[in-house]
Amino acid sequence: MLVLDSGDLFFEKEIPETLRASAKLKAEAVARIYRTIGCDAVNVGERDLLLGVTALKELEKKFGTPFISANLTDTKNTPLFKQYVIKQIAGKTIGIFGLTGDTEEMTSIIGKITQGSVVVQDSIKAAESVMKELAGKVDLVIALTHQGVGRDWVLARRVGGIDLIIGGRDGQKIREPRKAGTTQIVQAGEKGQYLGLLEVSFGPDKTKAVRNSLIPLGNQLADDEVTSMILDYQKQMAALYVPAGESPASPASTSCSPCHEKEFSSWQATGHARAYESLVNRNRQFDPECLACHTTRFEEPDGFSMKLQQKGLLGVQCESCHGNASEHVRASTAVTHQKPGKEVCTTCHTPDRSPTFEKGYEVYFRKAKH
Ligand code: HEC
Ligand code: HEC
Ligand code: HEC
Ligand code: HEC
Repeated sequence: MLVLDSGDLFFEKEIPETLRASAKLKAEAVARIYRTIGCDAVNVGERDLLLGVTALKELEKKFGTPFISANLTDTKNTPLFKQYVIKQIAGKTIGIFGLTGDTEEMTSIIGKITQGSVVVQDSIKAAESVMKELAGKVDLVIALTHQGVGRDWVLARRVGGIDLIIGGRDGQKIREPRKAGTTQIVQAGEKGQYLGLLEVSFGPDKTKAVRNSLIPLGNQLADDEVTSMILDYQKQMAALYVPAGESPASPASTSCSPCHEKEFSSWQATGHARAYESLVNRNRQFDPECLACHTTRFEEPDGFSMKLQQKGLLGVQCESCHGNASEHVRASTAVTHQKPGKEVCTTCHTPDRSPTFEKGYEVYFRKAKH
């Protein structure tokens, strides 16, 4: 068996300075778990570069899982990672190479994340050159891509000989492999919701048959080594941010109640007021990746900060929707977000965290306004 990952393994979004320590801890925990699982290769996605190439290289050195990319180079066009790996499985030789999309969008994101130190080379040319190197040496070629299915089709059509494209980035759930000539394209959704299990059987005359399934991963944890690693990680994370619990820089909802009693009591009846308790119930109240939407103005000026852990800013309070109201409280002048609209909600009500939000917007809105 081969265990592969198409990229964007470690982080979801930009990492502010205050969260670098927890991001490093998380990346190490994931890399340790991948080593235990026996991962054979991870393609480098743009978000894997958020802590820098050096950090990724250090993880590779410490934990051994290879990060591969055929087309990410330094400014002198030298590859930054192994372009491919070759594995022996059940008497067959398998070549696996990594590829990141070279669209303008991706190129500029990566340029920005790495301050120009990482260059995305032409992905088709890079794939062609790797295919030349692998020719005659392997029985099966797998491309681990991070570019979306549309570009995977282009790759399959333009570069001959790739047997399998295991894609990522656009979160597609492709159970039935898409066929482009002799190339088959699959993708297993996003955010660890599914594990793609693809079986390849070799027939006569170099024919290969594949059978693919998507195994949903629930939130149940098995009683095993990986689970104890996750619990260890959570303990270390809890120790990283020792709550100071000092008074908030930003006014807590209770300071609005004397003048806005009606709004206060209607807010208190909503889940927003209890959003922190939901994390406590899951024992995740120390995790910045959860606190981001379950506290007030997370890591914004005067908002909830991991460093200060202000008790007064836990949960989704008034200022989450109405913006910073310090000045308003002090001087009773008008506030910034007078009429919060959908764009305020969707900073937290994202499709993955709140899948029914888009369709049920009116009902959500009615419940949230006062
Ligand atoms: C000292 C009393 C007082 C406190 C405390 C206070 N407000 Fe107000 N707030 C007012 C008054 C008076 C108005 C109406 C102002 C106006 O119409 O210009 C108002 C209006 C608002 C509005 C509506 C603005 C508009 O133009 O319709 C919002 C939103 C608001 N406050 C939020 C808050 C929040 C959030 C807090 C707590 C962080 C808060 N207020 C604390 C007195 C207060
Ligand atoms: C800062 C993040 C954040 C913002 C902004 C936000 N929400 Fe929420 N919302 C949450 C969280 C977190 C929960 C889940 C609370 C819990 O733990 O039960 C939630 C729950 C809800 C619920 C269910 C609560 C209940 O009592 O049934 C509704 C309805 C809702 N939000 C509507 C809205 C609307 C409408 C907006 C925009 C006007 C909005 N939210 C803005 C984070 C946010
Ligand atoms: C991008 C913002 C966001 C992040 C990050 C986030 N949540 Fe939430 N969470 C929400 C929203 C929004 C809801 C409300 C969903 C709804 O009712 O549609 C919610 C609901 C919940 C609920 C359900 C409350 C209930 O009982 O109904 C729990 C539990 C929860 N989140 C835990 C977590 C945990 C644990 C994490 C970290 C792993 C996390 N959340 C990260 C936005 C977020
Ligand atoms: C989940 C987002 C959310 C939170 C949290 C929230 N509000 Fe609101 N608030 C709204 C929305 C939405 C409206 C209505 C806007 C509209 O009418 O279009 C509103 C309207 C208001 C108004 C103006 C009412 C009017 O008649 O114009 C005031 C005042 C107000 N909120 C105060 C508060 C206070 C005080 C809190 C905290 C106790 C709070 N809000 C928490 C979303 C929120």
